[in-house]
Amino acid sequence: MSRDVIISAKHLKKSFGKDDSLQTVYSDLNIDIYKGEFTVIMGSSGAGKSTLMYSLSGMDKPDAGEIRFDGTDITKLSSDKLAVFRRKQCGFVFQQIYLIDKMSLMDNVITAGALTNKNRRDIVSRAKELFELVNIPEQTQKKMPSLISGGEAQRAGIVRAVINNPKVLFADEPTGALNSANSAAVLDVFTSLHKQGQSIVMVTHDKKSALRGNRILYIKDGQLFGECDLGEYEENKDRTAKFEAFLGEMGW
Ligand SMILES: Nc1ncnc2c1ncn2[C@@H]1O[C@H](COP(=O)(O)OP(=O)(O)O)[C@@H](O)[C@H]1O
Ligand SMILES: [Mg+2]
Repeated sequence: MSRDVIISAKHLKKSFGKDDSLQTVYSDLNIDIYKGEFTVIMGSSGAGKSTLMYSLSGMDKPDAGEIRFDGTDITKLSSDKLAVFRRKQCGFVFQQIYLIDKMSLMDNVITAGALTNKNRRDIVSRAKELFELVNIPEQTQKKMPSLISGGEAQRAGIVRAVINNPKVLFADEPTGALNSANSAAVLDVFTSLHKQGQSIVMVTHDKKSALRGNRILYIKDGQLFGECDLGEYEENKDRTAKFEAFLGEMGW
């Protein structure tokens, strides 16, 4: 099967601070992300995973380098154009999901959908499909965010993140604040979306989360230190052993 590149990042450079406090997160990072794949970015805390995700998704600009996102070099876009690009092409899920307080879950999703799609009927029917996929029933869709559990909020957040059919769904430690049952439910949603063809880039230092990806990129010392093709997710001893061996090589 041939793989189409969706994001190609070349010679990325990013530092924080200056002079004595200058900290270089990466100085010449090169990464390709492929369409339809579930790519996981791993590495220890402080390795620069989130910084890299912010660069790849246009949330933040690298100091230098080129990022071709489906053909467009997003490092060249003005901040206004970059904001439009993000809204149309990217979905985001973070450790903590912030839903709008005084709106039901459904209205939160419809509001996000209305940013790029004018047809309310289409948005509502897509929202219903997605709520079903994440296992949030109709009566919960009508609730206000303050009345739902953390796991439900995270799943509703994923619905909101994909309502505009983003080219890439980005997730930064999406299970970081959840217990193991809620984490598993959220990871099942990512697996389902990936099976439907959604391109996903997930940053995590959680092994169970990482195991869902089909390709693992390991960031260390400001470099793409290693990568591993795991194939599609299934509960399988050999696959887990391959992943563990890879992490061992990386010095995890
Ligand atoms: N806005 C910022 N200002 C200063 N330093 C930052 C900022 N964001 C990240 N860093 C530093 O960059 C390094 C990488 O951070 P980050 O990308 O958040 O790592 P990770 O997500 O892998 O834990 C860390 O040392 C962090 O302190
Ligand atoms: Mg981080």
